[in-house]
Amino acid sequence: MTTSLPRQDRIRRALELLRNETTDKFDEVIDFAPTEFTDPVLAQDERDHIFGTVPSIVAHSSELAKPNDFMTVQMPRNNLIVTRQKDGSIKAFVNLCRHRGAMLEEREKGRCRIFSCPYHRWSYDPDGSLRTITRDTTFGEVDRAEHGLIEVPVQERHGFVWVVDNANATIDVEAWLGPEMDAILAEYRLEDAVCYQAGGFDEPTNWKLMQDAFLDGYHIQYAHPNTAGKVIHTNVMALEDFGRHCRFIAPRKSIDRFLEEDPGDAALDKYVTETHFLLPNSTLLRQPDHFQLLTFRPHPSDPAQSRMEQRLIVPKVEDSGMDEAHWERLWSKNWDILLAVLHNEDFPLLRGSQRGMASADAGDMMLGRNEIANQVFRRETRRLVADGRAAAAAK
Ligand code: FES
Ligand SMILES: [Fe+2]
Repeated sequence: MTTSLPRQDRIRRALELLRNETTDKFDEVIDFAPTEFTDPVLAQDERDHIFGTVPSIVAHSSELAKPNDFMTVQMPRNNLIVTRQKDGSIKAFVNLCRHRGAMLEEREKGRCRIFSCPYHRWSYDPDGSLRTITRDTTFGEVDRAEHGLIEVPVQERHGFVWVVDNANATIDVEAWLGPEMDAILAEYRLEDAVCYQAGGFDEPTNWKLMQDAFLDGYHIQYAHPNTAGKVIHTNVMALEDFGRHCRFIAPRKSIDRFLEEDPGDAALDKYVTETHFLLPNSTLLRQPDHFQLLTFRPHPSDPAQSRMEQRLIVPKVEDSGMDEAHWERLWSKNWDILLAVLHNEDFPLLRGSQRGMASADAGDMMLGRNEIANQVFRRETRRLVADGRAAAAAK
C-alpha cells in the first residue's frame, strides 16, 4: 500500500474510495487480548523496549524558544527536565538531584539560570553541571565533573523535540523516521510554526487504548455524531504504510460536491484531513490551515493510566495574514472545541473501555480489516516489544 503519489492524486484516491463506499483495507481481521491493557509485565517491556529504545516527541520547539527555557516531562522511565541551552541546542536531564535524590524542578515549565535543589540547596547550571555544593568544607571531597545531572538523549528535528527515554541509549531521529516520513515532515516546515497551546490530561486508561482512538476513522459518526461526525466522512481512509509509520487521508464532507462531477484541477487540500501515525505514540493531524499533535505516554508504573498531550500548531501571527486579536480569537475558539470533544466524547468512552478490559472474562477483541492505522500501530508496537525481548534474552 506504500505509494509516492503527489497529494492531489492521493486525495483523488480518497475521493474514489468514498464514491465506492469503501476504504483501504488490510488482509486480515486480527485478534488482541484485553490483558494488553492491564498486564504489568507487558507494561514494563513497553517502557523499556519502546520508550527506552526509540525516539518520541515531547514538545514543539517553540515551547522552548529562548535560552534557559525549560519544561519537565514525566516519561515512562524517567522524570525529565528539558532545557534550551545558551548555544540554542537542547539538553534533557533526569529531574533529580545527585546528592540525595530530591526532585529538582517541580514546575511544568519556566525559565531559569540555575536549577536549585529544595532539600540542601545544591545547584546545577542549565547545561547540567554541578555548580554549588552548600557547606562544601564540611561535606567532603566530591568530583563535581562526575556528579552533574544525568543526560538523556534528545534531538530537535522538523520543529519537534524528540527524546529516547534512556540515559544509555543514542538518538537518530532521521534514521528512525525513515526516508518517507522524514521527507514528509521536512515539507511541512513545522519549525516555522508556533505551538499556540499545549495541554496535558492524565487519564485512567492505558496509553494504547488512547492512541488507538486517535488513529480510528471508523468511530467518527458513531462516537462524535454532532461534532467531528458532521465534518469528516467515517470509515474512508486512503493509507500509505511506510513500515513503521503511516499516514492516511480522510475526506471531509465538503468534498461531496465532487462526488458527481470531476474536480479537474481544483485544489482539493481543504477537503481532507490527513492523519500521520508516528510510531510509537503520536498522531499528527494536518488540517487545512493548521496542525494538531496528539501524544500518548504510559504511566511510569500503572498500566491502567496514561497521559495524553495535545498541541495546536499554527502559523505565527506575522505569517497568518491576521491581526493578533483575530488570530488569538480563532485559535482559542479552536482549542476550546478540541477540548470539549476530548472531554465530553472520547475520554468517557475510553475510561469505560479500560474498566471493561479489566474484567476477568473479557474474551478476545479484534481489529477489522478497515482499521488500518490501528493495525499498523499493533503490528509495530508488537514488533518493538518482541525485538526488545529477543535482544534481552540474547544477552
Ligand atoms: S538532595 Fe539535593 S541538595 Fe540534598
Ligand atoms: Fe474520537
